[in-house]
Amino acid sequence: MVITLPEKMSDEKMDMLKALGAEIIRTPTEAAWDSPESHIGVAARLLKEIPNSHILDQYKNVDNPMAHYEGTAEEILWQCDGKLDVLVASAGTGGTISGLARKLKERIPDLTVIGVDPIGSILAQPEELNTPGPSYHVEGIGYDFIPDVLDRSLVDRWVKSSDHTSLNMSRSIIRHEGLLVGGSSGAAMAAALDVAKTLGKGQRVVVVLPDSTRNYMSKFLSDEWMVEHGFAPPAILTDPGTLGSKKASEWWEDRTVVELDLSKPMTISPSMACKDAIEIMRLHGFDQLPVVGAMEGIMGVASLANLTASILAKRVTPEDKVSNVMYTAFCQVPMTTRLAELNRIFKKHAYCLVTSTQRTWFSSSKFEDKTIVAGVCSRIDLLNFVVQSGRGMETKEGHVPKAVVSAPQSPALKAAGGVMHVRESQMPCQEYMWSFMKDAKSPIATPDLNPIEHSEHGRTQMSDVAPPPIPAI
Ligand SMILES: Cc1ncc(COP(=O)(O)O)c(C=O)c1O
Repeated sequence: MVITLPEKMSDEKMDMLKALGAEIIRTPTEAAWDSPESHIGVAARLLKEIPNSHILDQYKNVDNPMAHYEGTAEEILWQCDGKLDVLVASAGTGGTISGLARKLKERIPDLTVIGVDPIGSILAQPEELNTPGPSYHVEGIGYDFIPDVLDRSLVDRWVKSSDHTSLNMSRSIIRHEGLLVGGSSGAAMAAALDVAKTLGKGQRVVVVLPDSTRNYMSKFLSDEWMVEHGFAPPAILTDPGTLGSKKASEWWEDRTVVELDLSKPMTISPSMACKDAIEIMRLHGFDQLPVVGAMEGIMGVASLANLTASILAKRVTPEDKVSNVMYTAFCQVPMTTRLAELNRIFKKHAYCLVTSTQRTWFSSSKFEDKTIVAGVCSRIDLLNFVVQSGRGMETKEGHVPKAVVSAPQSPALKAAGGVMHVRESQMPCQEYMWSFMKDAKSPIATPDLNPIEHSEHGRTQMSDVAPPPIPAI
């Protein structure tokens, strides 16, 4: 069995299929359904290449809706004693909602069927509902084409779902109901709860929860993943009551990202040529830039290291679009993020996008919220703030900032003893760092001054990374 699987799908699904003996071929998530690189295109090619092969094809196979017509629908009717008013189901291939709706409407003609389709997909009707959006993380629902097995004439109303609402709803179902569901279940449940508010006493809503949490252990179940993708506030990483909770112990931990001296945000368009993106980074001293599309919003991050490596390895040409090599997995935090949370994020990520929300009103009652880039923040920004703003800061220990006191815990600085405290508290951040290196390695090697290499993991401007003279002690 060969399974063609878009890269977006969780590793848990891939590993399970592999364990069952399948050969897996991952395909680019962004590939259009009718392009040769998509999971459908690759399967079609393999069909021609492999003798006696057959595609099960969930998009066209009538057994897909039929399984729900004959199986799932009967189960619902039996469990509800044939009484229900509304059915809410998310749609991917549309097999579930079409099979269920056909059987249930045959038995209950007044039934209302509500379909749930993620923002960014085109399954919903009327078409105006399908505003373009960035690719979504909830798996299994939504497409860029209408599968044959989806019979939209059976759906009375469509609701568009967002990743944020869906994934938080799934976590809520897990926590409050103890049901170990997947992300598309959250999308359906959020829509069902909205519908339920409009119903009268005694009316019944059935909502289909299609998948289990087991497939998403490394994704929305993880607090870190939720924060990285902007679906949960960074506070959940440090709030009392969550795993790893910790009270602020350093003076800067309760400060927020707003206080960091971040550079003016610069973004690039996804259609920009790689060579132009490199030139902009070189001119302005950045080594990563957010990629923002006019309609899509924040799409990814182009990094100088990845751009140059991809060109050298001939994976792309200098003329190719940056969208071909941008990272679509990146961390983003709001301006209100506490520095304690930022510090925790930097244990795993070298940089993160700082975002804020821009609300555009189209009329007195219609608006759209868009996430915009307010800056890019790296470890060096946090370190600069802690060391520079820490100077003269009052602490319980006296007038020496804790950030500076804690630094000599490294063996080399410990060995240098208390003299270091006085010296460091008077030093600019960069000098402080270089003095650390000087003490740690003796005799000190001449540092490699290539600013780009040094700033590989940070937003860092060139002036940030050029090493200062080693201070005389
Ligand atoms: C997690 C998940 N939710 C929802 C669906 C949607 O079901 P259908 O394809 O029957 O529309 C799928 C389909 O595979 C799925 O994997």
